Amino acid sequence: MAQTRSTTTVTDPLRILKADHREVEQLLGRLADSDEGDERRRLIEEVRTKLTLHMELEEQMVYPLVVERVGAEDEEEAEIEHGLAREGLAKLEELADKPGFGAAVAMLQAGIEHHVDEEEKELMPSLKDAMERDEWKALGEQLAQAKEAAGQPAPTTTTRRSSKRKKKAA
Ligand SMILES: [Fe+2]
Ligand SMILES: [Fe+2]
Repeated sequence: MAQTRSTTTVTDPLRILKADHREVEQLLGRLADSDEGDERRRLIEEVRTKLTLHMELEEQMVYPLVVERVGAEDEEEAEIEHGLAREGLAKLEELADKPGFGAAVAMLQAGIEHHVDEEEKELMPSLKDAMERDEWKALGEQLAQAKEAAGQPAPTTTTRRSSKRKKKAA
């Protein structure tokens, strides 16, 4: 049977955020193993760009909904944790060529681990429960569009459709 491949941008908000989390964790792991020099500087810059955009999008698009639907205190905690992550990023830059860099990376990793765990297991599932399916999907589309516009596209999935089914759907 003839098949066509189609690539679809992921528009589930939690999957988009999770993909960002995994990417930042991976970059931090590489930073932990890095030596002083240009490569480390480049990795710091990459993690700063990715993490900053991720936090800004959450703060603009996701957290206002958390205040409304989940609770102001949960949102406040998440905002404070973002503040700590921003301080952690500043420390990486400050200590890039100094002893103590490894400790700065470890502290940022631990803070992020705590934050993403809450976000993935509590905050986002609670938000999903409190939203209509269409709203949840619209949020994902909004996030995907903003990431695309910022030059950091959301992940895609490739699906294979038989031409027969495609014809039927048309
Ligand atoms: Fe996040
Ligand atoms: Fe967050």
